[in-house]
Amino acid sequence: IDRARPSHIIGSGVIEEVAALVKEHEVTLIVMDGAVSPIQQRNLERDIGAKVIDRTGLILEIFGARALTHEGQLQVELAALTYQKGRLVRSWTHLERQRGGFGFMGGPGESQLEIDRRLIQGRIERLEKDLANVRRTRGLHRRKRADVPYPVVALVGYTNAGKSTLFNRLSGADVLVKDMLFATLDPTVRAIKLANGQTVMLSDTVGFISDLPTLLVAAFRATLEEVLSADIIVHVRDISHPETERQKTDVLHVLSAIGLDEADLEQKVVEVWNKVDLLPEEPFPDNGVVCVSALTGHGMDGLLRRLARQHTASWRHYSVTLPLEDGAARAWLHEHGDVLRGGDEEQVHVKMQEANAARFTKRFTEYALQPGEF
Ligand code: GTP
Repeated sequence: IDRARPSHIIGSGVIEEVAALVKEHEVTLIVMDGAVSPIQQRNLERDIGAKVIDRTGLILEIFGARALTHEGQLQVELAALTYQKGRLVRSWTHLERQRGGFGFMGGPGESQLEIDRRLIQGRIERLEKDLANVRRTRGLHRRKRADVPYPVVALVGYTNAGKSTLFNRLSGADVLVKDMLFATLDPTVRAIKLANGQTVMLSDTVGFISDLPTLLVAAFRATLEEVLSADIIVHVRDISHPETERQKTDVLHVLSAIGLDEADLEQKVVEVWNKVDLLPEEPFPDNGVVCVSALTGHGMDGLLRRLARQHTASWRHYSVTLPLEDGAARAWLHEHGDVLRGGDEEQVHVKMQEANAARFTKRFTEYALQPGEF
């Protein structure tokens, strides 16, 4: 449509058409791909003869059905209440305007809405407190994981790109894989071994969509935080999708919006072209891009090699002087890095991730780890 009709968004001709379809097929729910005001919703429902929800309403329904963790559920409920509150306020001001703008003349209808609004506000405040508590303990969990330091590999991508299928293929885990939008809301993590034998934590995340209503962005926070702290970000693309380029732009846009800068994107992102089985022939990807089919398993070895390469590419050289009797610090370095030959008995040369160097320094405060080639 060129211009939205304030009362119904769509024109009366379309409404008649849709109403006939609703009758013929016994449709019970209409979803409008956009924002629908409460008044428009009421008018549409009356004239079409079926329940109408808008884009945000639909996404909330899906999130609600998919949120598995406590935090995920709280976040979805918070988003739903905020959505509801916004709609209450809007219809309230609308009524006020109908009465000629004398907002100070309280009426029974107005005070009921006022009460509803306050009830919702109270629940929102309680939820925010609960969420803050859950986040605090999650922070503790994550810190614990940082002490058992395996690098984190996060799968990101447009919804339906095949992240969950790839996750299952790589880990043998039984996470939800369904041909529906947002099969995953909460991050799921499994340990896998890369081609060089290095163990990493593989994390499946919720799919990105374009034009995510701002109100819902907070409901992604847990997932997004996982991605921010990931060592490697695997960007899974459905290369057979006609809009695959636009999807890629969207995903990169979201990644930078949550706080990854250019350097992060360049260093951390591994691009994977999935669903190559659907193309007539194997494409020629850009440098560093891996072609796979998560469905058939094609390209998995190549992907694991690519991840291993990516993983060690970010390692740096360090040296540290350790007394011979300190076996624990030595063992730690052997476990978390490549201990190189060439140092004398007390001096240890090691190659490892910057993050691991930081962990070592924090854990063995008595030793000075020096960066640099030798
Ligand atoms: P969200 O959770 O919504 O973000 O989706 P997702 O990215 O996790 O996608 P999912 O793994 O659920 O896959 C979506 C659909 O694509 C499913 O029907 C898969 O079977 C299908 N699919 C995934 N990988 C491939 C592939 O390599 N080839 C083909 N032909 N289909 C695939």
